[in-house]
Amino acid sequence: MKIFPVLVLVISAFSFTGSATPIYWYHFCSNVSGNSVFVTNRNNLVSDLSNATVHGGFYNTTVGQNPNIVHGLFLCRGDLNPENCQNCVKLITSDVSQRCPNQTGGLIWYDQCMLHYSDTFIFSTMELEPKVVLVYNNMDIMEPDRFKQVVATVVRDVAIRASNASLGAKKFATEEATYKPPFLTVYSRYHY
Ligand SMILES: *[C@@H]1O[C@H](CO)[C@@H](O)[C@H](O)[C@H]1NC(C)=O
Ligand SMILES: *[C@@H]1O[C@H](CO)[C@@H](O)[C@H](O)[C@H]1NC(C)=O
Ligand SMILES: *[C@@H]1O[C@H](CO)[C@@H](O)[C@H](O)[C@H]1NC(C)=O
Ligand SMILES: *[C@@H]1O[C@H](CO)[C@@H](O)[C@H](O)[C@H]1NC(C)=O
Ligand SMILES: *[C@@H]1O[C@H](CO)[C@@H](O)[C@H](O)[C@H]1NC(C)=O
Repeated sequence: MKIFPVLVLVISAFSFTGSATPIYWYHFCSNVSGNSVFVTNRNNLVSDLSNATVHGGFYNTTVGQNPNIVHGLFLCRGDLNPENCQNCVKLITSDVSQRCPNQTGGLIWYDQCMLHYSDTFIFSTMELEPKVVLVYNNMDIMEPDRFKQVVATVVRDVAIRASNASLGAKKFATEEATYKPPFLTVYSRYHY
């Protein structure tokens, strides 16, 4: 299964508020079932992820041998402290066997962290699929063309800043722009 979430892009007209309890967003599972050795390896991998010390909100590991090898990782939202990251990882890891009981690949998103495992090598690999649009604000805006321009500028700038982070640093950035009238703030968050 070739899935890897290279970026999470959130554009919102609402401020991001620190939520104590991580909220489930979405998941994808491979449509292929693994055998019992694979599932055991997958469960051990999830347990490793669950017990991993949070280093900068990211951790990757591998369990087992071909053909039952499993690669997996978690990533926390860039502005979470280690404690909140750990909380989210505990929650998401406890959810894997319900979301993807025996599949060869799985991708689970919560609002504060994500988990990805696969029988194929997924690390440092760009993948654009699968992707999902969860919610959008369906209120009308005055002067949509001008609003789109504001959004485009903010998204471009924040993407450049996030990707420009030095080697080993979190590729995370936020930016605000005010659009007036009607005094709306555009928030943008870009996370590789
Ligand atoms: C799994 O899904 C892919 C893409 O949707 C499809 O090409 C493939 O045939 C499916 N495999 C099985 C075993 O259903
Ligand atoms: C995977 O789980 C499904 C649903 O529980 C089951 O039908 C299938 O037999 C399982 N596959 C394997 C290889 O265990
Ligand atoms: C992870 O921690 C749990 C308890 O929190 C423990 O049962 C499990 O054996 C640990 N797994 C590993 C791989 O250390
Ligand atoms: C973590 O990912 C890197 C590539 O980004 C890879 O070289 C390394 O082997 C991975 N670590 C484990 C334990 O799988
Ligand atoms: C990118 O990073 C370099 C080095 O830290 C810095 O000098 C430059 O201003 C940055 N560019 C942007 C667009 O943030």
